[in-house]
Amino acid sequence: MEEEDPPVAPETTEASTLDPPPDIDVRPSARGASGPATAASSPSQGKPSTDPIFELSDLAVLYSGFRAVTKVSMPVAEHQVTAFIGPSGCGKTTVLRCFNRMNDLIEGAEVEGTLTYHGVNLYGDQVNPVEVRRRIGMVFQKPNPFPKSIYDNVAYGPKLGGTKGKATLDDLVEKSLRSAALWDEVKDRLKRSALGLSGGQQQRLCIARAIAVDPEVILMDEPCSALDPIATLRIEQLMAELKECYTILIVTHNMQQAARVSDRTAFFSVNVNDTTGDRTGHLVEFDDTEKIFSQPCDERTEDYITGRFG
Ligand SMILES: Nc1ncnc2c1ncn2[C@@H]1O[C@H](COP(=O)(O)OP(=O)(O)OP(=O)(O)O)[C@@H](O)[C@H]1O
Ligand SMILES: [Mg+2]
Repeated sequence: MEEEDPPVAPETTEASTLDPPPDIDVRPSARGASGPATAASSPSQGKPSTDPIFELSDLAVLYSGFRAVTKVSMPVAEHQVTAFIGPSGCGKTTVLRCFNRMNDLIEGAEVEGTLTYHGVNLYGDQVNPVEVRRRIGMVFQKPNPFPKSIYDNVAYGPKLGGTKGKATLDDLVEKSLRSAALWDEVKDRLKRSALGLSGGQQQRLCIARAIAVDPEVILMDEPCSALDPIATLRIEQLMAELKECYTILIVTHNMQQAARVSDRTAFFSVNVNDTTGDRTGHLVEFDDTEKIFSQPCDERTEDYITGRFG
């Protein structure tokens, strides 16, 4: 096996999103074979569709026995932007991490209920979490480029996955940077450190890095909260473009952002146990974004979006 780069120490969970993809399928047993359509076939990208790519049914997450979030049932449509909103601690990040099994990396975390991806139970014994994280990439609140060149940040995941050849990698890097709307700004300094980029550019580089391993879904946890309004707008425009090719889930505290970028919105809230003081998040309402922001069914949603709560 060719060792081109030293491995990045997985001191944070982020690095695992770049683990090499050993298989095309989420199920190793179907490798190279024409497995069941529900599991093996990746839907052709670029086609508008509102088919559910994920289905959550009575999902709950516990941390060392503490029920952090519970009763989450909802579909996630393909090629749409789905936003998670709600007060701090209601479990938005926790639920987002379920989609690519990032909670597996947290000691004491347990997932109950079911979450299917193309009809396959994502937590089934046969599912390879590394491949899950290749197909379902993640972008974090704080841009986290590797201390490497711009080029190497983008090429890193594909190289780990076995992509070889300068021309192929050059092409992939350019394509990914173009998709992340960063190419024009960095094409003349690809060999310079990624740490020299602005925050907004770094975040787009992280999006390019996520795209480079050819995912199907991109999870974004407050991707604009460390950015100024101009960089935020740029990322929002990018999301509108990216949903043509990818399914996007975004956590945001910015109501205007959720209203602007998402097709569907899930509002989460927290119940406090009077005796123990435990705070457990739950899904209150999930609907078209337009409906959530104009005519929510639940009073708690209305209170939150109008700023009366949270
Ligand atoms: N790694 C962890 N270990 C233990 N408890 C955790 C962990 N991560 C989150 N929690 C708990 O789970 C609950 C939900 O947290 P989570 O981070 O998902 O909320 P959130 O809605 O994303 O909040 P915020 O808007 O502040 O980011 C909280 O009670 C939190 O303390
Ligand atoms: Mg969070």
